[in-house]
Amino acid sequence: MKACERVRERSLKGKIMFVEDAVKLITDGMTVACSGFTPAGYPKALPQALAHKAKKGQKVKLTVITGASTGDELDGELARGKIIKKRYPYQTNNDCRAGINSGEIDFCDIHLSHLPQFIKYGYLGNIDVAVVEAVAITEDGGIVPSTSVGATNVFIQKAEKVIVEINLAQPAELEGIHDIYNVGDPPFREPIPLRKVSDRIGLPYIPCPKDKIAAIVLSQKKDSTNKVADIDKDARLIAGHIMDFLEFEIKKGRLPKNLLPLQSGVGSVANAVLANFKESNFENLQIYSEVLQDAVLDLIDAGKVSFASGTSFTISPSKLDHFYRNLNTYKRRAILRPQEISNNPEVIRRLGVIAMNTAIEVDIYGNVNSTHIAGSGMMNGIGGSGDFARNAALSIFTTKSVAKNGEISSIVPMVSHHDHTEHDVHVVVTEQGLADLRGLSPKERARQIINKCAHPDFKDQLWDYYREASFFSRYKHTPHLLNKVFEWHENFLKYGRMRPKVG
Ligand code: COA
Repeated sequence: MKACERVRERSLKGKIMFVEDAVKLITDGMTVACSGFTPAGYPKALPQALAHKAKKGQKVKLTVITGASTGDELDGELARGKIIKKRYPYQTNNDCRAGINSGEIDFCDIHLSHLPQFIKYGYLGNIDVAVVEAVAITEDGGIVPSTSVGATNVFIQKAEKVIVEINLAQPAELEGIHDIYNVGDPPFREPIPLRKVSDRIGLPYIPCPKDKIAAIVLSQKKDSTNKVADIDKDARLIAGHIMDFLEFEIKKGRLPKNLLPLQSGVGSVANAVLANFKESNFENLQIYSEVLQDAVLDLIDAGKVSFASGTSFTISPSKLDHFYRNLNTYKRRAILRPQEISNNPEVIRRLGVIAMNTAIEVDIYGNVNSTHIAGSGMMNGIGGSGDFARNAALSIFTTKSVAKNGEISSIVPMVSHHDHTEHDVHVVVTEQGLADLRGLSPKERARQIINKCAHPDFKDQLWDYYREASFFSRYKHTPHLLNKVFEWHENFLKYGRMRPKVG
């Protein structure tokens, strides 16, 4: 399909221009909101034109907001070009992460379900320009997003100007997969009428007043997604523990045979867990998640998943052509919603989602750190993990029991940064085993976690800590010795990969 056929509203065809002209609309000090959620559906040509402008010596420092992380053409190019002054709400790019940890980029890590509301209320200031990737503009001027929706509907609603990037490398057939529903503002917010994972409640495009569209540019580049990490032995063991646990829950009558809708987080372990459902006895599964990765396509292909709802399709390069070729099948089995819906606490609680997210560290009482290395270095951000963990029917956290080739224990006395409290963590799983924490007191939780989840190399040290804390701590409901906690983490900070020692 030709470029002009993708812009179906005739009066807008005159807005098609070169990216070098459109980029002039973005100037130093602006807040720019871009489409994209993971490396899916983000603008590619305009950020690169911005980076080019900066390379030529023009000063451009911007506040950059997106739905979640994006691809290298956006986060990488802008970070390397020193263009990002402030970044919201999540990222996964190496250069962006380096900028954040060096203090060059101010980063504000926000629950992804909160972001749209923060924008609507103006907590993050005004949005000067929204830059959004689309596959088409409809006859009514509606914008049809590409492989993600994220917060694009709200960016378009609140931005002063909109630049649309029509990406000819994204199939026009994506039209029809989106379901755009705008949530009202309190105190007049209505219940979201979504009762089943497959319900359609909105429009297949994002409405946009025509006079807001300041420019339309063309691009032709696929999403720069990453290769899916190979599934290693530990990830397989973690997945196996989860399968056994879910089967046990069915036997106990606590879960239906086809389970409850599944959410799966990001990272190598998360992908392995989902992939494992292919070999399982479970049938007629449903996914209610934010990111739909390769494993979801495999499960749809295998007839294991009857419907999947998310806010982005993040398909690895090796699977992308398969995805495009079979788009019509996936359109019958999947839907993309705004992140305000995919991550919405009301909907997650109503559907009774089984949330499976990854931790960097878990402490012996069940608190989880998902974002920081050694309490200081930002990894990615909380993403949607808090939205799901807090509201899920069953909240599972996975992690390998050790990191850095076995030199660091992922089970620690007290997390060095706190993202998910003990109240939102029902089950902890490592390759060593699974700890079901539901209904347990802090001391019972500590015994379960050390016994079932800690690596044998660190068990003695954790037991020593727990016993000493239980003996000497003045306040004994959740026994801690803060000087020892500090010592545990201090060793990592001081010596990098040195095995922590306590006592
Ligand atoms: N101490 C120190 N470093 C640790 C560590 C620990 N306990 N655990 C992991 N790391 C390091 C790893 O060594 C690796 O470092 P490297 O990049 O230098 O190799 C890095 O952290 C990432 O670890 P890895 O095991 O590769 O992580 P992953 O791909 O499974 O991702 C998270 C794990 C937690 C980073 C990722 O899931 C995340 O960003 N979660 C938060 C957002 C989220 O959950 N979103 C989904 C909601 S729908």
